[in-house]
Amino acid sequence: MRICIVTPAAPNSWKGNRITALRWARILRKLGNTVRIITEYHKQIMDLLIVLHAWKSYSSIENFKKKHPDLPLIVALAGTDIYRDIHKNTQVWDGLKRANRLIVLQPLGIKEIPPYLHNRTRVIYQSNTVKSSSGSKNTGKFKVCVIGHLREVKDPLRTAHAARILPSHSKIEIIHIGAALDKHMESIACAEVNSNPRYSWIGEISRSKALRILAGSKLLVHTSKMEGGANVISESISLGVPVISTEIPGSVGILGASYPGYFEVGDTKALAGMMEKTEIDKSFYQLLYNRCKSLQPLFQPEREAETWSSLLSEIFPDRIHLVSTPLETRFQEKKQQIGNFSRQLKAEVEKGLGSQNKSLSYKYFYDQRGSELFEQISELPEYYLTRTESRILTQNSKQIAALFDQSPAVVELGSGNSVKTGILLRELLKQFGYCQFFPIDISPEMLEKGSRNLLDTFPNLDVQAITAEYLDGLNLITGNGQQPKLILWLGSSIGNFDRIDAVGFLKQVKKRMNVEDKLLIGIDLRKEPELLVKAYNDSKGVTAKFNLNLLHRINKEFEGTFNLDNFYHQAVYNDKLGRIEMYLISKCNQTIHLNHTGHDITFRKDEAIHTENSYKYSFSEIQKLAEDAGFHLDYRLTDSGNWFSVNVLTPGN
Ligand code: AVI
Repeated sequence: MRICIVTPAAPNSWKGNRITALRWARILRKLGNTVRIITEYHKQIMDLLIVLHAWKSYSSIENFKKKHPDLPLIVALAGTDIYRDIHKNTQVWDGLKRANRLIVLQPLGIKEIPPYLHNRTRVIYQSNTVKSSSGSKNTGKFKVCVIGHLREVKDPLRTAHAARILPSHSKIEIIHIGAALDKHMESIACAEVNSNPRYSWIGEISRSKALRILAGSKLLVHTSKMEGGANVISESISLGVPVISTEIPGSVGILGASYPGYFEVGDTKALAGMMEKTEIDKSFYQLLYNRCKSLQPLFQPEREAETWSSLLSEIFPDRIHLVSTPLETRFQEKKQQIGNFSRQLKAEVEKGLGSQNKSLSYKYFYDQRGSELFEQISELPEYYLTRTESRILTQNSKQIAALFDQSPAVVELGSGNSVKTGILLRELLKQFGYCQFFPIDISPEMLEKGSRNLLDTFPNLDVQAITAEYLDGLNLITGNGQQPKLILWLGSSIGNFDRIDAVGFLKQVKKRMNVEDKLLIGIDLRKEPELLVKAYNDSKGVTAKFNLNLLHRINKEFEGTFNLDNFYHQAVYNDKLGRIEMYLISKCNQTIHLNHTGHDITFRKDEAIHTENSYKYSFSEIQKLAEDAGFHLDYRLTDSGNWFSVNVLTPGN
């Protein structure tokens, strides 16, 4: 993988962002990638861009996404961007929305990020290779190290001011490392050095020298007013030098809420008191030391490398997460499902074909061959349903996306042909930069196929494919509690339910929805019977094959003796009930034997097996369907000929 890391910190500077970029580059190279560090994106060629600082590097985010909307982007909130800019600057929000993943440097960072982005946020603690050293700490002095550039946000002279009010017997000496970023700061620091015998300032020095000084100190004092997660705190912990810090989220996220070494930002007296306590109270010093020591594993390089490795595998190749996780379990579940399904089919065959009016459920059409045939049906000129629904979705995708002010979790009942879903996902990705998709289907093969198609087209999409019955699958999608759901039930699949069952099913769906969720259902409309009959009696005979495949399936699963040539396909429109009825008609008197079950089934000439109903709805029937199920019909989208409808439903009260 070719990876570029953008950091606003100039080469050779020792700003935290540059150090982080250098470290990440090292880790990512070790993981087998080619890595470049740049200060701004300028059309460099890459597979992944990692940006440090959402605000200062915003132009890179914008230009990169303009040029490569489909390439993945990781934005790390590493400093003032997370605790200041995010709340003041809309560009930061925009940058975050466009990222596939966000990184914060300590767990409390997540709190600053809008909840709908939590599921794409990862914590990466900053590791270091420094080791605990005994150092030469027993010089008779109590050396306190301050590391940080002289910038207002670091409150750089607070420790010096605190040192001034220490009792005269104290052996505390402050040594401050860091560059003055302007002349004014420099003159203030020099004046402090001249008038404060406990304070010395040595400016900017190499990192290794700085770490040596820190290792030889008794204590690190961190006075920042705001920090994403200071590198120097983790380095100090790794060196075994206890820390006193301002109680800011960037530090509390690393040291923990109950850490005893905090003082309030700007509180000189409290800082002086705490420094004095560490100097004179051995048990307090030991407490800080032990607490810091226990945190050392967090900053081990192996741990940071592992986090990066799993982050990269989330972004690259296999982005399908089947919810039933371990592979073995998945296979077992599949076997079990097939077992259950065969048992159901057996019962269905015994009951449906054993009765006077023979019937089979439409559910059994969809074995692999049946699914392939259905795909062919949806491309037939006579089968207007798929085409018309796609057109309606294309024409209204913006309007549908605009129903949400944050990227919804898109749930699809029946993963089916991903083309139609892709229309909506494309628009949502355009609007929000990121989208989570949860297809639910009982067929893992269908799920995999549909999901892979979408993933190839949309690199910013996250797919969590769920092998389950619709309602069980919906139970699994709890989201993060904040993100609304957009549930899709397309293709007029509702038409294969009888009208009462359709209401019952929608009621069950509603139970699994929150008020802000939306259900989008594609429903075929009542129209001239001639058009309808043609759609189910196509000239190429694909629907006939689809229908007859049911007998082929029974032959396969029960070693049956159906001769497909002895049956023909029939589709008629029942105007009164508003439905297409599909049948398989026996061409002659015949007896079929099922070896596996030992059953004989006799057919008279012209006797029919009823295999499917496909209900068509009028506008008022749709309205009633929604109301009966407890929904509010918000929008009805149709084509110019009123052949098909896409309906947006929200749960009523
Ligand atoms: C999947 N279902 C909505 C299709 C329909 O139109 O009822 C199944 C189908 N049967 C024959 N052609 C298509």
